[in-house]
Amino acid sequence: MAKPYYVRDHRRAVANFLATLPRDVAMARSVGPPNLLELERIAKVQLALLEEFGFGAGKALIDVGCGSGGLAAQISERFGETATYLGTDIVPELLAFAKARSCQTYRFELVEDCVIPAPAASADFVTLFSVFTHLRRADIARYLREARRVLRPGGKLVFSYIERARHAKFLLYTIAVTMLRRRKVENHFTSAREIERWARASEFAVEAILPGRIGHSIAVLRKP
Ligand SMILES: C[S@@+](CC[C@H](N)C(=O)[O-])C[C@H]1O[C@@H](n2cnc3c(N)ncnc32)[C@H](O)[C@@H]1O
Repeated sequence: MAKPYYVRDHRRAVANFLATLPRDVAMARSVGPPNLLELERIAKVQLALLEEFGFGAGKALIDVGCGSGGLAAQISERFGETATYLGTDIVPELLAFAKARSCQTYRFELVEDCVIPAPAASADFVTLFSVFTHLRRADIARYLREARRVLRPGGKLVFSYIERARHAKFLLYTIAVTMLRRRKVENHFTSAREIERWARASEFAVEAILPGRIGHSIAVLRKP
């Protein structure tokens, strides 16, 4: 059976980068940044944001679309085995790279669908950094349901999105990233208002909407 568009496109993009660039650079470019230093800088900002919303030692986090492990490496360095981490992705090469830079107790799982391979009520945080930005609405809805299932009551879903109101600015981004770098994956935009609708439909409370935070905008939803 044909693979979903996101599996097909992301695997092809990563294969292209690996065929033309040194592995470290390819692993950074495959998830956006030009090099590993920049990936590290962004991951530090992601972790600071999570700590602001209560992440820390003793917490369990599921990082959907963990990519080359920028966040996993930061959590490893700061919290090591005191945190529980599961990273999922659709590209085996990214998962292997992420695993190699992370704490040995952290788990990494390959998925080929919008599912979270974890039991119900097992996580304090679910993150999707720059993942909904590549998914169509029906697939986002599936991940929202999955996130609600795996979160404990009070658990938080943190995701980044590209605000449609900033579309003009991001048109340039889309051209630069998608076309010039031959990274042909879908890019999708949304709005704070639409996210409020998603939250209502999937029974989340909106904890925070942070426009333009960490480059993309950030939404923090809480499972009641
Ligand atoms: C722009 S990268 C961001 C990676 C990482 N979250 C970060 O911030 O560095 C998007 C990642 O999502 C993964 N991805 C895309 N669709 C996915 C899906 N349906 N399920 C899981 N991962 C997916 C891609 O393979 C890629 O690694």
